[in-house]
Amino acid sequence: MMKLTLFALLISSISAFMPTGITTSIKSAKYVALNAEKSASLPFMNRPALLDGSMAGDVGFDPLGLSNINDVGIDLYWLREAEIKHARVAMLAVAGILQVEIFGPAPGCEMATNKSQMDAFWQLWNAHPQYIAFALILITIIETISGIAVTSSRPSGSRAPGDFYLDPLGFSKSEPEKFRRLQVQEIKNGRLAMWAASGLLLQGCTTHQGGIEALQSSIQANSF
Ligand SMILES: *[C@@H]1O[C@H](CO)[C@@H](O)[C@H](O)[C@H]1NC(C)=O
Repeated sequence: MMKLTLFALLISSISAFMPTGITTSIKSAKYVALNAEKSASLPFMNRPALLDGSMAGDVGFDPLGLSNINDVGIDLYWLREAEIKHARVAMLAVAGILQVEIFGPAPGCEMATNKSQMDAFWQLWNAHPQYIAFALILITIIETISGIAVTSSRPSGSRAPGDFYLDPLGFSKSEPEKFRRLQVQEIKNGRLAMWAASGLLLQGCTTHQGGIEALQSSIQANSF
């Protein structure tokens, strides 16, 4: 009898609390959704949890949720390092591609006359493959040294991704606001350069024209 009473009490308490429990959780879910901070760049989405604005150029843009990856050694730190690295390499690439197209081949590479730098690369490869082999070896050495330095300094937590303590004018200490502004400019220029570099590469491989050459011929063709 006692057991039965307890059982009945249990059932009634469960059924009594269940609807309230559900409504409470729905209410709190609504509450969270209404009050969650929105992404600055995608206001219809919530701000990704890890993109708290501490990184320069962070505008909460992560529709695929890549910032939440934390697996097989890939996490936000790693991705940020990769973003900054791609940004810097792309800025150099765009500057190099345009410089050679405008001012002509660099000294020692006079045979690479093709305006399309994708074809100029193969002209150089055919004439002086050792230049390209040497460049690849140099890149490998730099990558190995910087890769070991970056990986081994990470556990200390003192190094921000992409930071190589390259601050000859000491802005990071004397003018932290200016330093922050420069960091934002760096990553914004870098993101633009990544698009520019992909455009120059794809266009050079398909039309076999230089970037500026292709721009000129499309302006002529469309007679703007
Ligand atoms: C550049 O190289 C491509 C591919 O070999 C070729 O089709 C094109 O005519 C070359 N352009 C010039 C200006 O030499």
